[in-house]
Amino acid sequence: MNKIIINGGHELEGTIKIGGDKNSVVALIPAAILSDEEVTIANVPEISDIDALEEILEYLNAYVERNEDIIKINSKSIVNKEIPESIATKFRASYYFMGALLSKYKKVEIYFPGGCNIGSRPIDQHIKGFKALGATVIEEGNKYTITADKLIGTKITIDMPDKGATTSVGATINIMLAAVKAEGETIIENAAKEPQIVNVATFLNNMGAKIIGAGTSTIKIKGVTKLGSSFNEVIPDRIEAGTYMILASLIGKNVKIENIIPEHNEALINKLKEMGVNIELGRDYAIIKKCDNLKPVNIKTLVYPGFVTDLQQIMTAMLTQANGISIVEETIYENRFQNVKYLNDMGSNIIIEDDKPYCGKLYIHGKTPLKGCEVKATDLRGGASVVVAGLIAEGTTTITNIEHILRGYDKIIQKLTSIGAKITIE
Ligand code: EPZ
Repeated sequence: MNKIIINGGHELEGTIKIGGDKNSVVALIPAAILSDEEVTIANVPEISDIDALEEILEYLNAYVERNEDIIKINSKSIVNKEIPESIATKFRASYYFMGALLSKYKKVEIYFPGGCNIGSRPIDQHIKGFKALGATVIEEGNKYTITADKLIGTKITIDMPDKGATTSVGATINIMLAAVKAEGETIIENAAKEPQIVNVATFLNNMGAKIIGAGTSTIKIKGVTKLGSSFNEVIPDRIEAGTYMILASLIGKNVKIENIIPEHNEALINKLKEMGVNIELGRDYAIIKKCDNLKPVNIKTLVYPGFVTDLQQIMTAMLTQANGISIVEETIYENRFQNVKYLNDMGSNIIIEDDKPYCGKLYIHGKTPLKGCEVKATDLRGGASVVVAGLIAEGTTTITNIEHILRGYDKIIQKLTSIGAKITIE
């Protein structure tokens, strides 16, 4: 299997253009099948999850045309058939086909990958929403058969009292997909407010859906009978943007990160400023110069607009370079500290306190110089954290299991090389 080789310690300078948001496009592409005509999605990132999505669409006999970052999809010849385990379990977000196929055909048979290495990641809130709309859900192992004579709009409250997360991004989007053609009005209470939800709602409204309130905790959807052609652009990936902002704060001489929406990274930007990082913000860019005397800060991951869990592991790598003790609290996933072992192998001093499933804590004793060594990408963002650590470490870092990283970072090797990083894939 390939590995990433990094020669660390090289100051970075130049411009990085952020690609489309992985967590948005994995919902936009299933949403596209709701249209009875051709739809176009622009600013699609070059990540392996897109290949898996295209495979599902082609399996369903939809017409897919990809031209660099533009994807055209026409579902008029689509057939509804069981999505086999081999295809559906290649990545988690295939679950958006549940809402889309249920909405279009009132029937969907799909396998769901279930947990992954950052947590159990159940979909009980998605299923609760489908049932509330009138669907019957049969679970046989990890196969779901969801049918409905008709879908009738209703009020659905997303509720996870026993979890750290107070709402669910996936459930909000999946219920929206299932409700756009239901009879009558659906109200989603306690909806998630992440930016990708607005991106998907805009795409559906461009098709003729009637959705208001996306981005707030109450979304209202008036069912329609037909959805037509649509165009939409994938919003910039705020996690990719945040990853490069953190890297630039550590070793950037002068790095411009463009094609961003600063508001989407507000929690991170505030933390970087608190640490003493020099950030100049424009309408769609950030210019960052590294800070050699970083102050420690405390982080608690929360749903949007709080500090996003997807940047927790990368921020942890940064906090190893702060002068003092930082505390990181992870409240969204029960197993998102697997990268800590490898950061400590490189010389950091991070202590894990797992006091309950949804609230693990890290105590990061900085500043610790890092030395390159053999490490693993434990998961997508854990992988990004060891890339950042390798780029600031002395010597050579070799990363294996890099398929995790390539799933979610658009042209990462090219982008880093273009600003002076010594990084290759072998
Ligand atoms: C999305 O996952 C993202 N993935 C995740 O990004 C991100 O971390 C997460 O939102 C939170 O922002 C995609 O969009 C493909 P949730 P999702 O439903 O929708 C629990 C990355 O690194 N939960 O908001 O699955 C769940 O187990 C990935 O890019 C239930 O208990 O997140 C988790 O602990 C990782 N029951 C928490 O809630 C449910 O029915 C948040 O899940 C649904 C979720």
